[in-house]
Amino acid sequence: MGQRVRKSPIRRFFDRIEKSFQNMNLIIILLLLFPILFFILFSSLFFLFGAVLPMIFYGAIYVPSDKEKIKTIIRLAEIKPGEKVVDLGSGDGVLVIALAKAGAEAHGYEINPFLVWAARRNISKAKIGNKAFIHWKNFWQEDLSGFDVVVIYGINYIMGRMEVKLRGELKKDARVVSNAFNFLGWPQIKKEDGVYLYKNN
Ligand SMILES: C[S@@+](CC[C@H](N)C(=O)[O-])C[C@H]1O[C@@H](n2cnc3c(N)ncnc32)[C@H](O)[C@@H]1O
Repeated sequence: MGQRVRKSPIRRFFDRIEKSFQNMNLIIILLLLFPILFFILFSSLFFLFGAVLPMIFYGAIYVPSDKEKIKTIIRLAEIKPGEKVVDLGSGDGVLVIALAKAGAEAHGYEINPFLVWAARRNISKAKIGNKAFIHWKNFWQEDLSGFDVVVIYGINYIMGRMEVKLRGELKKDARVVSNAFNFLGWPQIKKEDGVYLYKNN
């Protein structure tokens, strides 16, 4: 039978200090690990939603239109008050907001739920919630026949299929404004600063 060794009060005091140091080490390690784990999780989600989702749903990854391009898009679109306009892949809503401010009833279809959330927040900050609407939708599955103007900032490999969809679905005289990428089989009406204007006929 082993005999229990009774520790002196000083020894017990030092044991307790040692134990609390061990616990503190664990807390410090956890505190250091937390931002690293958060960064890994955040980057994976960013990659998944920013790059993988658009690839799966056959669209461009998120790159916002810059201010100068937005001015050109609005100029070429020649929006009349109350016209229904849609941005296919609306990102953070910057273009939908500009279209609504130009007098349109502006809609945006967006596949990335984080961008849908960001765009709705930006719209509510801009106080134009009655004229600008963001839908968490895959634009390939939406009927575009009700729109007067379509705006798109796509990517070269979707333009052929998009041309077929737009020319088949849009009403006569509906306009299409495309940032950066042109439609190969559709004669353009105008081109300014890398932005193309088309009309359905
Ligand atoms: C190049 S960004 C353009 C963003 C915005 N229109 C602008 O000009 O600032 C393309 C956007 O399309 C979205 N997207 C890609 N494929 C999509 C799809 N099938 N349906 C809806 N949105 C899509 C992406 O998530 C991305 O936000």
